[in-house]
Amino acid sequence: MMREPIAEIAALFDVYQSGLVFHCLCAVTRLGVPDQLGEEPRPVTEVAAAVGADADALRRVLRLLAGHHLVDFDPGTDAVTLTPRGVLLRGDHPLSLAATFATLGVSDVAHRTTDALRTGRAAAPVALGEDFWSFLAARPQRQAVFSQAMAEQARLLSLPCVDLVDWPTEGVVVDLGGGTGALLAAVLNTAPKLRGVLVDQPQVLDRSRAAVAERGLADRCEVRAGDLFGPAPAGDVYVLSRVLHDWDDEAVVRILAAAATNAPADARLVIFEDVLPEDGSATAAQAWADIAMMLLYEGARERTAEQYRVLLDRGGWQLLETVPGPPGMHVIDATRRPA
Ligand SMILES: C[S@@+](CC[C@H](N)C(=O)[O-])C[C@H]1O[C@@H](n2cnc3c(N)ncnc32)[C@H](O)[C@@H]1O
Repeated sequence: MMREPIAEIAALFDVYQSGLVFHCLCAVTRLGVPDQLGEEPRPVTEVAAAVGADADALRRVLRLLAGHHLVDFDPGTDAVTLTPRGVLLRGDHPLSLAATFATLGVSDVAHRTTDALRTGRAAAPVALGEDFWSFLAARPQRQAVFSQAMAEQARLLSLPCVDLVDWPTEGVVVDLGGGTGALLAAVLNTAPKLRGVLVDQPQVLDRSRAAVAERGLADRCEVRAGDLFGPAPAGDVYVLSRVLHDWDDEAVVRILAAAATNAPADARLVIFEDVLPEDGSATAAQAWADIAMMLLYEGARERTAEQYRVLLDRGGWQLLETVPGPPGMHVIDATRRPA
């Protein structure tokens, strides 16, 4: 008789169950449950009342999350506290990942993966009824959480790469799709004479202006509403951080060409993106990111250095080098391609 492959069955059930853990974690973070918790035990009924949740449903979800070391839950006293892992989902933690879990994203569209597999198209329009960016633009609260999620991820991915780049000591750095400006602020802090222009969609910019002012950079950084596909402002260095992987190849070429419109012949372009191995392989995290892009945005994908080289060339730029950063991030350095 065939022996049951117990370990494989257990591994499959881990995968089967982890999807629901992810959804529960996103849901409690969206409701702001971690913000109601800390080291002091708090009754679930009180937390449920504070966030507008059903106490029984919340208790059962917290019991699941306790099994994954996100909260400690004492059924005897009905009291719950945050673990050192769960505390990272409080919005006020300096290393918070709350917005990353709360934002509109994979958790809202992954249930349409079968459609994406059949059609090769993004799942977001099927799941949301419109494309991802339009959905966000029409919902200011969700847009704000998305922008905050991007800032959290920039802190982990792009900011550690700032020191890998040889920034000029003066001139203008233009950050296209710069979001809340955390990256551009870090770049401007490398040299006091450097000035910046942050370009993004108008609905993002209130937060960007506030963030730039908070960092004392208002006089050195212009925050400008603009379209990635329209001519970019004149500058000496252009930055595209985690923007190009949101778009299909043709859109990437248009974005790169738009960036080049007013760029001098010696302008540089610094791209912050992960770079896939050339042999078609990917780490588990890279494969995850690639599928997330596939589901969220039409034609979006992670790319190899060679794929970026070809797109850069088509968009009027020449790839100089790619430099690895922390896991999940590279710096791609480019300059204007000679005509
Ligand atoms: C994935 S986020 C990256 C944000 C930031 N660069 C970072 O590294 O955290 C993509 C950014 O592109 C902006 N964006 C999307 N479509 C745009 C468009 N058509 N014109 C200008 N910005 C756009 C979004 O608002 C968002 O801030």
